[in-house]
Amino acid sequence: MARRKKPRLMLAVETSCDETSAAVLDQGKILSNIILSQDEIHSPYGGVVPELASRQHIKSIDYVVRESLTQAGADLGDIDLYAVTQGPGLIGSLLVGLTFVKGLAYYFRKPIIGVNHLEAHIEACFVENEGIEFPVLALLVSGGHTSLYFLEKPLSYRLLGKTRDDAAGECLDKVAKFLQLGYPGGPVIEKLARGGDSRRFHFSLPRMKTAGYDFSFSGLKTAALKTIRENNLTAEHPRLGDFLASFEETVVRALLENVHKALQEFRPASLILCGGVARNSRLRSAFSELASGYALPAFVPSPRLCTDNAGMVGALGWKKYLADPSSGTDLDLDAFPR
Ligand code: KG4
Ligand code: ZN
Repeated sequence: MARRKKPRLMLAVETSCDETSAAVLDQGKILSNIILSQDEIHSPYGGVVPELASRQHIKSIDYVVRESLTQAGADLGDIDLYAVTQGPGLIGSLLVGLTFVKGLAYYFRKPIIGVNHLEAHIEACFVENEGIEFPVLALLVSGGHTSLYFLEKPLSYRLLGKTRDDAAGECLDKVAKFLQLGYPGGPVIEKLARGGDSRRFHFSLPRMKTAGYDFSFSGLKTAALKTIRENNLTAEHPRLGDFLASFEETVVRALLENVHKALQEFRPASLILCGGVARNSRLRSAFSELASGYALPAFVPSPRLCTDNAGMVGALGWKKYLADPSSGTDLDLDAFPR
């Protein structure tokens, strides 16, 4: 009897928020990683409109998957297994990717690995860096999440703390929306804050009343909006750069304060920074400085792998498959928004 071919080629799909993405991987190595952003669609609203996001995923997914196959020089029939983001994310958006992949897996009778979006963001670091030493302390900062994880060993994720209200990226996006700077707000704020004096405006750091590693950004957002109103700040105001630099600096300090605290208790061997906000150069350099202060190696994905992409989903899906090759046979796989 002919031996069954060992799976190696994977198609991964990510549609948890407003990026439609598909990647092809060969034994966990990314061959193609296509990302179609919906920024232009959501920009007039200053944030993601869930209904528009899922409709756009439906329009784009076929093209994105085809393009990922073409760039990898593969055909659908060559795919041995699938990985797809199960959650957390916008339920309508998640269901587009999940249903699309389920249809393919059912037709070709191949396994599907369901992937947690937040764990995939952490995995983005491992894609480009082999041999990251465990235990790892990972700070994940995105538009929907701000969380601190401790990974004792590969594929073990202990959540130490998360935001109790707004995520850091959401806080940046909302301040940018208020100033009518467009969406996503993070990159615009980074650009306009460059050269600004971060000591010109004072913001208190969010203080949690309880012990632990939770974050909070809604108070800082309210304080920023109040400062904008009181100083009549607009997109054209000469002190806008100073205001944005001060605000950005406070967001960075609030994020790193919890990392400092956790370092005392958990003593990791490596530090990871990931998620869309990890594209921010001020945060990247402050994070590296913090790590070198503790003589620890710090890993941050390259900018393209920080924001949502199917490559990171596939990379984690492949590791999950290797850890349990009998997984992936459940076509009842469901999406989870939280
Ligand atoms: O991880 P991501 O692509 O999507 C979620 O899972 O939420 O992150 C998107 C977030 C947005 O809030 C966006 O404003 C922020 O990442 N972002 C940035 C930068 N680039 C993207 N924030 C600060 N500086 C940037 N350069
Ligand atoms: Zn994300």
